[in-house]
Amino acid sequence: MKVANILCMGAGYVGGPTMAVIADRCPGLRVTVCDIDAGRIAQWNSDRLPVYEPGLEEVVRRTRGRNLFFQVLSPEAIAQADLIFVSVNTPTKTYGEGAGMAADLRYWDSSAREILAHATGETVVVEKSTVPVRTAEAISEILHTHADGRRFFVLSNPEFLAEGTAVRDLERPDRVLIGHEGSEGSRAAAEALAAIYRQWVPEERILLSGVWSSELAKLAANAFLAQRVSSINAVSAICEKTGADIGEISQAIGMDPRIGGAFLEAGVGFGGSCFRKDILNLAYLCGQYGLQEVAAYWKGVVELNDYQIARFARLVVESQFNTVAGKRIAIFGFTFKPGTNDTRDSPAIGVCRHLLEERACLAITDPQGLAHAREELQGAAPEVEFEPDPYRAAQGAHAVVLLTHWPEFAGLDYRRIFAAMEKPAFFFDGRRQLDAALLHEIGFNVYAVGSPPKTRF
Ligand code: NAD
Ligand code: UGA
Repeated sequence: MKVANILCMGAGYVGGPTMAVIADRCPGLRVTVCDIDAGRIAQWNSDRLPVYEPGLEEVVRRTRGRNLFFQVLSPEAIAQADLIFVSVNTPTKTYGEGAGMAADLRYWDSSAREILAHATGETVVVEKSTVPVRTAEAISEILHTHADGRRFFVLSNPEFLAEGTAVRDLERPDRVLIGHEGSEGSRAAAEALAAIYRQWVPEERILLSGVWSSELAKLAANAFLAQRVSSINAVSAICEKTGADIGEISQAIGMDPRIGGAFLEAGVGFGGSCFRKDILNLAYLCGQYGLQEVAAYWKGVVELNDYQIARFARLVVESQFNTVAGKRIAIFGFTFKPGTNDTRDSPAIGVCRHLLEERACLAITDPQGLAHAREELQGAAPEVEFEPDPYRAAQGAHAVVLLTHWPEFAGLDYRRIFAAMEKPAFFFDGRRQLDAALLHEIGFNVYAVGSPPKTRF
């Protein structure tokens, strides 16, 4: 099976960076990234990419116009493709059966229909989006019912990149997982996809598996990662009650190689477009198969996260003498993690909404996320300020609430910030980024997740 032309449907956080790295590493391939959103395509073709990722601009600059092309989805692009990655969004359903839990597959469905309408000859269709188990089977059935002599092979190739480190993760992946249906044709299609990755990924990192295992492995991987965050956050709550320190606990338990040190950073809770949606999707699937206890187990991970966000937001109000009405509060960081402009499902949304309900005035600062923050809080309150300069955001504030540990925040002059604030001045560190002892010495009342408060009264 020969692959020369690759198409990716969906020019988002996954489609854009993934195709840019494939084009970079495989100069012999022609890679086209399509989207139904013409505005997004225009951004990909401009100097200001829609996705902020360290290192991405350089890769796009090297490849765009050479063997990487961004264009609005068209029948010709589909017809010319030998292999189509489908990397469209699969958000949580907000309507009908399974609302609030199941994955909304409408974008996937319409992608499959577009492929069916315009593909020619033999086409490999690759699931890049995260989808419920057995989606490949369903898509394969739809495609084959109306194939009219054409051949389709549906593979699962879930993406494991994390935002903020996407380029590094794509260039040096821990593993590339390719699920196939087991037939001879499907195996050959999987081999053709593996041959693309082999151009830069070591052979032992490329895993071939059954298609359902591949689909379920992606959901399970995210569920395990999120579970670790919720586990450490659950312990952080006990720390605050007992006087133990979560940083010391993370270090102590992480040194056990059976546990490992990664993903043990306690904080205001996990965010992002995937953890919550994928766990809810997993729990919904379990429920559909009658596994209610298993569904409840995984749902608990999300419930603990909701609790952590709400607990932190309440702490901000309670510690300031139970009222923030009319008080200026500086929010340091709005993206769900550093290194990205993505604010989807960021804990900052919940914390800010809570503070706004309590009638606080917010001054939000973030190195990359202000445009999306504006959209997220649209209509929430008229008095929210979006301020690129953290010093100005903190000017006259009663409190600084740090919600994203951008490295920029570590380098600020907190004596200067303290001097410009109302007194008593409070610092709530939702990411345990800063040295609480130093902040306390400067004069702040410091509350860091998982540590006893350091107050001055
Ligand atoms: P995104 O919303 O950033 O991008 C999806 C894009 O698909 C949008 O631009 C949308 O306009 C486009 N689209 C929708 N229907 C289309 C169609 N019929 N044809 C062409 N384009 C269409 O989403 P994302 O963050 O890139 O995520 C995509 C998938 O990858 C999701 O299933 C997600 O779970 C999964 N995933 C995401 C990440 C991540 O870090 N964001 C990591 C791994 C996996
Ligand atoms: C996550 C996974 O790490 C990726 O492997 C996966 O491909 C991706 O989801 C996906 O399917 O979308 P991402 O959401 O981009 O990637 O970012 P993470 O680094 O996993 O962080 C998620 C959230 O957990 C962030 O809000 C982060 O601040 C929080 N987190 C992470 C903690 O609170 N503590 C930790 O120790 C680690």
